[in-house]
Amino acid sequence: MKTKSIQSNPQKFDSFIDKIKISVDYTDSTWNSKSQDLELIKNSLHNLQTVNQVPSNLFWLHNKDCLSLMKKIPNNSIDLILTDVPFGVNFKWNYCDSPSYVFSVYNDWLKGMFESLKDWAHCYIFVPTLELDKWISAAKLVWFTLKNILSTRSYTSNCFIPNNFKFDTQLILFLSKWKAKDLNKVNWVRTSQSWFNDKRNTNPNPFTFSYPSFIDVFANKKANRVSKNIHWNEKNVLFCEILIKLSSNPWDIVFDPFVWSGTTAIAAIKQNRNYIATDNNKDNYKLAKQNIKNLKN
Ligand SMILES: C[S@@+](CC[C@H](N)C(=O)[O-])C[C@H]1O[C@@H](n2cnc3c(N)ncnc32)[C@H](O)[C@@H]1O
Repeated sequence: MKTKSIQSNPQKFDSFIDKIKISVDYTDSTWNSKSQDLELIKNSLHNLQTVNQVPSNLFWLHNKDCLSLMKKIPNNSIDLILTDVPFGVNFKWNYCDSPSYVFSVYNDWLKGMFESLKDWAHCYIFVPTLELDKWISAAKLVWFTLKNILSTRSYTSNCFIPNNFKFDTQLILFLSKWKAKDLNKVNWVRTSQSWFNDKRNTNPNPFTFSYPSFIDVFANKKANRVSKNIHWNEKNVLFCEILIKLSSNPWDIVFDPFVWSGTTAIAAIKQNRNYIATDNNKDNYKLAKQNIKNLKN
């Protein structure tokens, strides 16, 4: 009840949040439970505000064009976007993935994503290496801030390409709406021994904590994929869970406009986040639906 009355008065709500912020003792160099509790209270109050703003029938998986879905999502309401865009390469030679299609609409997609995000929220976009320049320019054009380019080991590239190196990393744009909020402190699970032993990545001070931009999660093609027969572009759930933990809080809303097998939605569910996801391809949507159902059973 108390929460509700604060919510209904935006000015009171903001000053309440400020008071909480002030009472968090940031001078303590160790992460103490008191400040964590206060952060949780602050976040859950914020979430309550957003969750009320977004029609509840949107919290689910949709079989819609992402642009038509984005029109229904109120501006400044999404806590995190985590998505793997259609690559615009002719691997799949279907309409949805053709370069002419992708590059005729990608400016609108990015604009919709930017508007739906809350200020300072993060946005991760898996992008094709050879189209990296296009995606960066288009993201900056709609005012996204480019914070970094992350990479992870990729197992989607089995083909031999003459006169080239292999495409064995997956690049991910790490963007934010305006200035980025801080990354959360999470227990970093490094499965690769070389990263684990790298002293540069083990700074225990949460206020100077810096994560590696190369994120290596299980080095096995099948590990952490949600489908029985993984498709050529299926992403790793554990990897998505790490990004979700770093950039959102429990009950936040995670949005994926291009969900295919449901990877990001499943990662969101596993991390107790709300999610909104869509895929305009009926078969892909059905696969996501099945994978989510399997998870819940
Ligand atoms: C690269 S795949 C996503 C793969 C996914 N991350 C996974 O792990 O399975 C891109 C998806 O975007 C979908 N797509 C293409 N255009 C779309 C649009 N306008 N709206 C919604 N989905 C779209 C495609 O059907 C495809 O499933």
